[in-house]
Amino acid sequence: MDNITFKTLAPETQIPKTIPYPLNIAVAGTGYVGLVSGVCLAHRGHHVTCVDINVKKITMMQQGISPIYEQDLEELMFLNNDRLTYTTDYKLAYKNADVIFIGVGTPEQPDGSANLSYIATVARQIAETVEKNCLVVVKSTVPVGTNDKVEQFIKDFLPRNGEKNNIADQNNIEVEVASNPEFLAQGTAVRDTLEAARIIIGTESKTAEETLINVYKPFSLPIVSVSRRSAEMIKYASNDFLALKISYINDIANLCELVGADIQDVAKGMGYDTRIGNKFLNAGIGYGGSCFPKDTKALDYLAKQNGYELRTVKAAIEVNIDQKILLYKKACQRLITFSGLKVAVLGLTFKPGTDDLREAPSLENVPLLLGQGADIYAYDPVGIENFQRRFPETSKECDSSNSKGSIKYVKTVEEALLDANVCFIFTEWEEIKTIQPADYKKLMHTALVYDGRNIYSVENMKESSVEYYSIGRK
Ligand code: UDX
Ligand code: UDX
Repeated sequence: MDNITFKTLAPETQIPKTIPYPLNIAVAGTGYVGLVSGVCLAHRGHHVTCVDINVKKITMMQQGISPIYEQDLEELMFLNNDRLTYTTDYKLAYKNADVIFIGVGTPEQPDGSANLSYIATVARQIAETVEKNCLVVVKSTVPVGTNDKVEQFIKDFLPRNGEKNNIADQNNIEVEVASNPEFLAQGTAVRDTLEAARIIIGTESKTAEETLINVYKPFSLPIVSVSRRSAEMIKYASNDFLALKISYINDIANLCELVGADIQDVAKGMGYDTRIGNKFLNAGIGYGGSCFPKDTKALDYLAKQNGYELRTVKAAIEVNIDQKILLYKKACQRLITFSGLKVAVLGLTFKPGTDDLREAPSLENVPLLLGQGADIYAYDPVGIENFQRRFPETSKECDSSNSKGSIKYVKTVEEALLDANVCFIFTEWEEIKTIQPADYKKLMHTALVYDGRNIYSVENMKESSVEYYSIGRK
């Protein structure tokens, strides 16, 4: 790494900071949230120990390899190597920490609620390990009120007087809990952390507030200090607002098609109004990823639990479910069958710049196409490995039944398109965007394209004699 180049960072945030009073910070969980937070905290001058139960991940990080695909992360791991430790030994990490961040997953359960068992495990480990006062900071997205419970849970599990390892009791140890939600998007997670629009801290005491302010002072970013419950709600309200914005523009897009308007022109016109803003107005095949789908369902669930119906968020969820299979349905109207057809699938991940497949539209569409007997040729620059775990490569030859389709993974867009009868675009990767309208005509058997990301101009596709269907455009 002699010549480190950063893809997303401004020049001033690229330089590691040295600060007079670095804190001893432990971070539990090294997923997108935990690892990026830990590395960025080290970059701003603190001493950070990243903890994970996954030995493979820890070994990789100890060798300087990031277990997730995230721009600029490995470079920062390298630059801040002296201030970063990776371990599976949580005791070592927690016992002398000033601050412990919790960044473990909060996966969605079948009823839409968040699974808090990983948070509980970490909370208990903290209680049983700490040897001095510390602040526990919950970064994971948790339902409103969870931080109160985490604090109580830790207090309940602190060793009692008379127990063998009652260091906590002997020293009268205080463990407080604060909320500090993150707003990082995959692909730009490092930039979103180091150059965040705001840092939200939710605390219930002056001491906790001061500690968190000290943690974030070296970031030189605006800090919004509120109560714990408000901080928890800010996270959901922000994510769900963005999901709502996307579902709104998708809803309008569907109407545009019916009345002969063009959603891109409409969005452009709307976006100039600074109260609306021009971001997150791209109509498409629905939102996916690890946050919007989960966080909309979690807030809907929280409202229900409190006897309230959150109609706006519910509508966003419903629009998104339909939006994901809109193009498939359109194609079903156009074609008699998919059986025996070569179907090019371009893009598998939920958005470009990540290998993450969580809630990706491809996951809805591929099984539908396979169920209809399609022979899929799938292309994605980074997502194939993960996708293959769920849908292993099959071939027609191995499967004598005609009712089931097959899936094959290819290394180039051209291979996917060659002699294809129909093409679906699910992710707007640059590698896919470089394919010209004329290429579809030249390569495909039938130039029939369903574009879930509105990559091409309708006119250009028409000029190249491509039968083209997109979102919210005639
Ligand atoms: C997740 C959620 O998706 C997000 O909404 C939440 O705000 C934070 O956590 P992510 O970082 O992508 O985001 O989660 P994930 O990739 O599941 O990573 C969690 C890590 O924690 C994994 O590496 C896992 O091995 C580790 N873990 C989990 C522990 O170290 N200890 C545990 O007890 C459980
Ligand atoms: C999101 C939030 O942006 C981030 O602040 C939060 O912390 C976690 O959730 P992420 O899921 O990584 O981040 O991706 P994002 O870029 O926000 O996209 C989410 C989904 O919305 C993608 O499937 C994307 O394709 C879709 N999207 C986004 C649209 O369909 N239209 C848009 O205009 C913007």
